[in-house]
Formats: sequence, C-alpha cells, structure tokens
Amino acid sequence: MSVRTLEARSLVKDFRLRSGLKTTILHAVKDVSFTLEPGKTVALVGESGSGKSTIARMLMKLETPTSGEILLDGTRSGDAGRALERYRSDVQMVFQDPFASLNPFHTIIHHLERPLRIHNRGLSAGEVRGKALELLERVRLSPAESFAERRPHELSGGQRQRVAIARALAPGARFIVADEPVSMLDVSIRLGVLNLLAELQREEQLGVLYITHDLATARHFSDEILVMYRGDIVERGPADEVIRNPQHEYTKTLLAAAPEPENFGRLRDEVRAELAR
Ligand SMILES: Nc1ncnc2c1ncn2[C@@H]1O[C@H](COP(=O)(O)OP(=O)(O)OP(=O)(O)O)[C@@H](O)[C@H]1O
Ligand SMILES: [Mg+2]
Repeated sequence: MSVRTLEARSLVKDFRLRSGLKTTILHAVKDVSFTLEPGKTVALVGESGSGKSTIARMLMKLETPTSGEILLDGTRSGDAGRALERYRSDVQMVFQDPFASLNPFHTIIHHLERPLRIHNRGLSAGEVRGKALELLERVRLSPAESFAERRPHELSGGQRQRVAIARALAPGARFIVADEPVSMLDVSIRLGVLNLLAELQREEQLGVLYITHDLATARHFSDEILVMYRGDIVERGPADEVIRNPQHEYTKTLLAAAPEPENFGRLRDEVRAELAR
C-alpha cells in the first residue's frame, strides 16, 4: 500500500523578466515544502503576488520548478506522455473562474464524459453517461438529467463551479488544488460551494490545497494553514492555532485586515499600534 501523499519538496520558481536589454530575476517561490494527505485540507493564504498560483501551477505540472520536486506517494512522476496523464488523473485543479475553465460550446455532460472516457478506457457510451450523471448528482446538480444538455452560460456561477468540481473528480482524483475557487462567485453562494468541497473531501478522503485570501474560510475549512509572503512560507501550523496565536508580523497584518470581528479586533488594535510606532 502506497503512502498516498502529494509532497512539494523545496520548490523554487524564478521568472526571468526582460525589459529591453536588461534581465531581472523574480523569485516568485523561494523554498516551499508541504505535504497533502487524504482527508485533509491545507490552506495557502497570502497577499496578491506572493506566489500561491505559481505553486498551484507547479503542482499541476503546468509550470516547471526551477528546483525542488513534486512527489506523489513518495515518487517523482514523469512530466510527459502517459506518466503525466496518470499524474493528472490523481491530481486535479479547480480554477478561480469557472466560466473561463469550461468550454462555452460544449454541453455540461460533455465536460464530464471526456475525462471519464480518457481515464476509463473500455467503458461503453452508456456507462460513461451513467457515471457522468452520477457525478452531477454528487456535486448536487440534481436532477442530473436537467443539467446534462445545457451549456455553461445556461448555469449560474455557483453551478458552473460545481461542474468544474465534478470534472476534477471525473478521472478519480485523490488530490484537488483549488485556486481561489469561490473568489469570483457571489458572496451569498460561496459558502455552499466550499461546503460541497468539504463534504466531498470527507466522503472521498481527498487531499485538498485550498488557496485563498480569506483567513476566515481558511480557518473554517482547513486543518493546516500556510501563510505565504513574497515567495516564502513565513508561518504554518494547525488552522486554529495560526489564527488564534499568529507568530509572524505578516500573519498579524492579514488578520487585522480580515473582516471578522470576533477575536480579530484585538489584533487589529495591536497591529495599528505597531504600525504607528
Ligand atoms: N509566467 C510568469 N512570468 C513572469 N512572472 C510571473 C509569471 N507568473 C507569475 N509571475 C509573477 O510571480 C509572482 C507570483 O505570482 P502568483 O500568480 O503566483 O501570485 P498569487 O499569490 O497567486 O497572487 P494572486 O493572489 O493575485 O492570485 C508575481 O509577481 C507574478 O507577477
Ligand atoms: Mg493567484
């Protein structure tokens, strides 16, 4: 039995930026390590530009690390061909913008049947359709038949994101990288989508990387929080602990800016005092 982990080990990503004759190096991700496990959610929080999406893209093998490695069940898997296909059936991504990530010309069921066919060669057309309908029910798009033949624009933003989640599950993913999965959705439906992700995570024992700006949902939906600042993880720990007892100045600043009055007010005052000095 394999260990069933997805590990980022000392990931580094430098971008070369050219302007005219000058080249500068941007250290987008400096030396980042963490492990995803089944049934656990790790939140990656940090300000805009801190390197969160770059980490997500490296985990998805959409971007090659400058150094460091990604280990699935302890093994470095291939970056091309069949090996990449296998890797991508285990590790799937949910993007920020469900509209851009779905093809406007294809029906909802097509988005699910395609990965099902690729990853379950040998299934009949009827079996593939049955599995696709089951997936729609699993993301609470019910009755599935009423959504199957629609196109993305005929769904609400929240429903589209549910389709994106179903599509991530279609190849049998064990790990989901969700890069700000609800930040483009109306505030009123965000919680519904996050709750769905949390339920699936429990039911299917998925390992989830939840990337967000929002500390309140990071606390509520994750086991561990990693705080990123300019390419580094500056603080990490059990979610409650990081929120209740932040150690790093930047985490305190983030908390002070978070719109949750309960126990953040005290911190806000502390940070204000700090900044005024
Ligand atoms: N392909 C690229 N070429 C050059 N620079 C890049 C590239 N991709 C990202 N960057 C830079 O790397 C840094 C990290 O970007 P990244 O998208 O990972 O941030 P982020 O934490 O996801 O931000 P946000 O919260 O706004 O989504 C930024 O300075 C960005 O401009
Ligand atoms: Mg990003």
